[in-house]
Amino acid sequence: SRTIRLAVVAGDGIGPEVVAEGLKVLDAVAPAHDLAIEQATYDLGAARWHRTGEVLPDSVLAELRGQDVILLGAVGDPTVPSGVLERGLLLRLRFELDHYVNLRPVKLYPGVTTPLAGATPDDIDMIVVREGTEGPYTGVGGVLRKGTPHEVATQESVNTAFGVERVIRYAFEQAQARPRRKLTLVHKDNVLTFAGDLYQRTLRRVAEEYPDVTVDYCHVDAATMFFVNQPQRFDVIVTDNLFGDIITDIGAAIAGGIGLAASGNVNPDRTAPSMFEPVHGSAPDIAGQGKADPTATILSVAMLLDHVGLAEAARRVEQAVSADLAERAGAPARSTAEIGDAIAKRVVG
Ligand code: NAD
Ligand code: IPM
Ligand code: MN
Repeated sequence: SRTIRLAVVAGDGIGPEVVAEGLKVLDAVAPAHDLAIEQATYDLGAARWHRTGEVLPDSVLAELRGQDVILLGAVGDPTVPSGVLERGLLLRLRFELDHYVNLRPVKLYPGVTTPLAGATPDDIDMIVVREGTEGPYTGVGGVLRKGTPHEVATQESVNTAFGVERVIRYAFEQAQARPRRKLTLVHKDNVLTFAGDLYQRTLRRVAEEYPDVTVDYCHVDAATMFFVNQPQRFDVIVTDNLFGDIITDIGAAIAGGIGLAASGNVNPDRTAPSMFEPVHGSAPDIAGQGKADPTATILSVAMLLDHVGLAEAARRVEQAVSADLAERAGAPARSTAEIGDAIAKRVVG
């Protein structure tokens, strides 16, 4: 038997609602794989901030470091100044735990409605490898003459040779393991010439070690267009932190909606726990109404299982989701818990 120490950070808005369903499915799949879950729940997010002023105490971060893996719901609330929780909790976790790969599959499951006319599952099947610890996300920059007509706000993009090479290497490994073996760098090297050049040179150098992988390049503006009119162009994408954030929301939209998009914040070197979460946010507009789709979180649980070496259990969860998705078109809308129940039932049976 195998025990996983799982940290749960449900967070804000719909976070707790979708995480409950993710855990339901995890509990359902565990017995068949002789898996025991040792769960630790962490109360972090808007409520704690209002109560204590704390966002992520060092002692909590230290505890999280000792866990095997983290499941996160969503972070951010309209009652908290924008960025306090997003930067102080979510991004701090990604940075401190060295989640340099933000893995975001964009996959159209059979039977799922896509807004792209005529597109089939064969057309939309890619993995976005988004850099997770650098780029414009580091917080380097600042403000001068704040509040005056001459205010100057700078927000630097930080890109290191070390950081760029390790995420590109990871992307090559992903590409090599897939049938099409194609890797596309998405950037903006015609304008962001310093960072773009570092990515390009690193890509070309590492490519020599992967002669069977086809390498391509696409400016990010064009990439947004190709997501919509030629998604079959992409197999594995490697891109910077901000571009990856943006294109994976488009990716979610073409693959059936943000309620289906899963992700992993991965530390491939395993020097700290990786963290799995839906791509979407706390959705304050629908929070507390049982309307949120938990599918993205459940697929994130599948990625989590795969990461901890339980590939069979991961496959089982993904197949249960796929079967559920195949029957959704035309069926009456279900609540968050009803979707979780249905998928959990398929996992068992
Ligand atoms: P959002 O993803 O929360 O919501 C965008 C739209 O998608 C909303 O209409 C929402 O109702 C819908 N939606 C999202 N998830 C859904 C689900 N599971 N099922 C059905 N509909 C769903 O993005 P936003 O509105 O830009 O941001 C809201 C808050 O979440 C902000 O505070 C933002 O900073 C935060 N945020 C957090 C994360 C994260 O924790 N990883 C990601 C994105 C945004
Ligand atoms: C995401 C979110 C986060 C990001 C925010 C909330 C910090 O949009 O996970 O996609 O920009 O990475
Ligand atoms: Mn985002």
